[in-house]
Amino acid sequence: MTDARLFHWEYNPPPIAHEVFRVEGGTPLRGEVTISGAKNAALKLLAAATLTGERCRFMNVPEIEDVRVMVETLRDLGVVVDHPAPNVYEVASGDVDWLFVPLEAAAKMRASFILLGPLLARFGQVIMSNPGGDRIGRRPVNLHVDAMRALGAEIDYRNGYYFAKAPGRLRGAEIRFPNVTVMGTENAMLAATLADGHTVIRPAALEPEVDDLIAMLQKMGAEVERTYPDTIEVRGRRRLRGANHSVIPDRIEAGTFVIAAAVSGGDVTLRGAPCDHLGAFLEVLANMGVQVACGANSIEVHGAPRGSGAYRACDVETAPYPGLATDLQPPTSVLLTQATGTSRLYETIFEDRLEWLGELARMGASVEIIDEHHATIVGPSRLRGTAVEIGDLRAGASLILAALAADGITTIRGAHHVHRGYENIEGKFIGLGARIERLAEGTVATPA
Ligand code: EPZ
Repeated sequence: MTDARLFHWEYNPPPIAHEVFRVEGGTPLRGEVTISGAKNAALKLLAAATLTGERCRFMNVPEIEDVRVMVETLRDLGVVVDHPAPNVYEVASGDVDWLFVPLEAAAKMRASFILLGPLLARFGQVIMSNPGGDRIGRRPVNLHVDAMRALGAEIDYRNGYYFAKAPGRLRGAEIRFPNVTVMGTENAMLAATLADGHTVIRPAALEPEVDDLIAMLQKMGAEVERTYPDTIEVRGRRRLRGANHSVIPDRIEAGTFVIAAAVSGGDVTLRGAPCDHLGAFLEVLANMGVQVACGANSIEVHGAPRGSGAYRACDVETAPYPGLATDLQPPTSVLLTQATGTSRLYETIFEDRLEWLGELARMGASVEIIDEHHATIVGPSRLRGTAVEIGDLRAGASLILAALAADGITTIRGAHHVHRGYENIEGKFIGLGARIERLAEGTVATPA
């Protein structure tokens, strides 16, 4: 995807050695898989640790590229980050040397922008590069900047950088967002914990990862709570203390493996994956006739035979939580290719999140992209292996699902996108019997 509008003028990632997944489809997945900690909780928790000079310890942190980038960014700021064991990180932000989040960090990972609120609130100034991130839309950060200004910050934008400062202390404020924004909510909340006075944020995102962040902030001594479903209120404190916290499971990874079992005709049990946060997704699966059973901390999936067309077509619309997560729309689209009938997709959150369906069509799916927000999928389609390319994290994982359901060999360029957000994804699939390997480009013959 080389559309110029998807690239910031100042951000054009240097070419890196493209990794390739090589997948031989057709094997029903069987066995158990453990779901890792949530990427979209862990990144914010690590940032929240900069609100105090005391040590914070995080468990169940996913070993993914985005966590590595966040840790590298924190260390570049002078923050001490230790990694005493797999999935365990300790952060101590005594004093920081240099309050600057450079282009390369922001370009690799949009979530680095979550450092704006805590660094501004704790140290009174920060220079942030305008983030890049996934190619799933323009993804501005204007709402984050508006929230900081509402809290009393002064922010100028020059040559791709936000120069932010808070003369004196931030002040509590009424923050009204025009639409739900997950990281906008989180940035405002983090900044408000050290602001002078009372802050009310609405509509506040309801995603479970936001509640995980609230739980950690409360352990740190912050006075923050969800007073109404879509309202978060904060009474600022002078300082916060260190705390320990275990990251909640990744509901998006869980949904991805549920669909892997469903499209491969397998029998898979997900461990450490409660159904609690997957209500809307499970409703879609029930409508489609996918057999799923929820345990206390597990999900069992019994897939229909591959190519049987046993699933029913279903209209799918994404929405802020508790609606269907936009991050589960790409994996669900793969499932819809195996359903009998016409399914209509309505992606309400991002304007470029359907483009990847073109790659799915090249594998034999019957897809029509109507506009930036709408598409239709007619099934069932026999998918066939070919060479495809990944544009973003969630589409990348979904192409693996399609390859598992397909006949023959699929090579998937851009595997590095997937490793941004899924811990050891090829190892987890191999553990379920999938025939997948990760290779450096140029070492694998592209299927005919
Ligand atoms: C978070 O992104 C997640 N990322 C996304 O997951 C997820 O898809 C999204 O929330 C769901 O809404 C992380 O948590 C790191 P938003 P975020 O602000 O916070 C517009 C993944 O694959 N908007 O909720 O950046 C925006 O363009 C990623 O893990 C503004 O206009 O998303 C979008 O249309 C992909 N101005 C809508 O709001 C702003 O300042 C919701 O975006 C901010 C957002």
